[in-house]
Amino acid sequence: MSMASGRVALITGAGRGIGRGIAIALAGRGWSVVINYRSDAEAAATAVRLAENAGGQAVAIQADVASAADRERLLTETLRQFGRIDLLVNNAGIAPRQRVDILETDEASYDEVMTVNLKGPFFLTQLVARTMIALLEAGVITQPRIINISSISSYVSSTNRAEYCLSKAGMAMMTALYADRLAAYGIHVYEIRPGIIETDMTGPVREKYDRLIAGGLTPIRRWGQPEDVARAVLAIAEGYLPFSTGEVINVDGGFHLRRL
Ligand code: NAI
Repeated sequence: MSMASGRVALITGAGRGIGRGIAIALAGRGWSVVINYRSDAEAAATAVRLAENAGGQAVAIQADVASAADRERLLTETLRQFGRIDLLVNNAGIAPRQRVDILETDEASYDEVMTVNLKGPFFLTQLVARTMIALLEAGVITQPRIINISSISSYVSSTNRAEYCLSKAGMAMMTALYADRLAAYGIHVYEIRPGIIETDMTGPVREKYDRLIAGGLTPIRRWGQPEDVARAVLAIAEGYLPFSTGEVINVDGGFHLRRL
């Protein structure tokens, strides 16, 4: 262990956007954070600086969650740096490179999106869960938590990005499966379902969503911010949902409500 550390969180895809917001919020509560990034080292370095300014220790670790070897290295390096892992946030995710009608979806896009958004998190969670069990048994950690950042797309049909919807729907079941399997160890698993959040991912469709939000698409008529998602993470991380697991937390301005 090269650094003294309190509780440690690993957040995937934390160089920017929602992941960065989560890392900064956790650091602000004294957590040590691992900021995983895939390719933008500069953005990750900025996220590290912001997290440190917020009050926590932070390191950036490059790894592609789609790669088994990278996932192994990400966890090994996390343990080498901090000696423990208390929280995994599966945040990294991609939209399809192009929005294409479901009748034209091609296999390359399907494979890419499903691998990054579902297969990667599934196997990273498996790896981390095994480690958490060992750390619990060794008395190193006490209340490990796993959080999956899914989307309203886990239940809303968008026929021009079917592969994204499928990946997020799969993540909902992944949450249920791990919540069920890991409860006996005291490892609780949660799904956070963001609505429309202002990040680079939604940059290309900003004007469309500006119009829809102004028109009342969401009962709370504003864009969500990464901080909105981060606050839900804090509630879980800080232990405010101790008798819940497999729980879905909608962070969507009320979008999921059915209205008449
Ligand atoms: P973003 O595109 O700004 O950030 C995603 C981050 O994940 C980027 O830093 C990217 O480099 C990283 N990433 C992508 N593939 C990776 C890989 N293979 N390995 C490691 N890192 C990788 O997007 P945003 O908006 O911050 O999204 C974060 C999560 O929230 C995603 O899972 C997304 O699907 C989900 N989400 C976003 C919503 C939004 O409105 N922005 C709504 C609902 C869910």
